[in-house]
Amino acid sequence: MGSAFHQGDKVFGSAGFPYDPRACAEKALVDDDSMMPIPEGISFEEAAASVSAGFTAITIMRMLPPPPARVLVSGATGGVGHILVRALLKQGYEVAGTASSSKLDFLKSLGGVQAFGYEKPLPGRLDRSFDAVVDMPGGKAGIAMYGYLKDGGLLVSVPTITAKEVCAAAPSRVKASGVLASHEKEVREALVKLLSEGVKPFISGRMPLHECQRAHELIGSGHTMGKIVLIP
Ligand SMILES: NC(=O)c1ccc[n+]([C@@H]2O[C@H](COP(=O)([O-])OP(=O)(O)OC[C@H]3O[C@@H](n4cnc5c(N)ncnc54)[C@H](OP(=O)(O)O)[C@@H]3O)[C@@H](O)[C@H]2O)c1
Repeated sequence: MGSAFHQGDKVFGSAGFPYDPRACAEKALVDDDSMMPIPEGISFEEAAASVSAGFTAITIMRMLPPPPARVLVSGATGGVGHILVRALLKQGYEVAGTASSSKLDFLKSLGGVQAFGYEKPLPGRLDRSFDAVVDMPGGKAGIAMYGYLKDGGLLVSVPTITAKEVCAAAPSRVKASGVLASHEKEVREALVKLLSEGVKPFISGRMPLHECQRAHELIGSGHTMGKIVLIP
């Protein structure tokens, strides 16, 4: 059977995403329909760093009201958050984001985003002012976000591990949903388009493949900035 790709093409993607993830390896056998062409001007590292976070960000965006809606991203400097902020800004949303105070400069560097430290409550003028909130930390931090939604607004809680609990706590005046990142064709195409429009992931660290375990421990902390890539 023919393939969309030719020998030597630069491709990226995720093997077995999301239900049958593979190990970190230098070489992998993959289905070509799970691969995407790397757009001009995007490095292998940037392409690799964009897959899971990009799929998630795009899936979330398909749930949101259209631009120029006001969206608050809670946890906006992590893997999913920073790509989502860049993509929302690109599409004309009005975006606010939260981060720990030490990362506010990075958050502001993403573009025209209103940046707030999450260690203290957000300014009172933000109460009930957003059409949608995207919650990255989940749990109690997610539940605390409902007060920033307008009536009829939507909270999307991203960590699957606490999404049920966060959604169950939704007041009746708003809507709430968990999310499962899609990798369907339209999402893959949307990711290639985002990258070719210059919406790139930020790579905060590069680690050799043999430090794969330490890399996972670092991202498991829930406080890494942007993405970490493994270098073969
Ligand atoms: N449902 C899905 O399909 C799907 C897909 C991908 C990821 N996920 C999950 O979604 C979550 C986010 O993913 P990620 O890759 O973006 O994680 P990440 O890179 O670890 O980022 C987590 C972010 O949350 C912030 N944060 C931590 N505590 C906070 C608080 N109390 N209030 C506000 N922000 C806080 C962190 O900021 P600081 O660093 O400044 O503390 C960081 O920016 C993870 O749990 C991940 O497993 C789900």
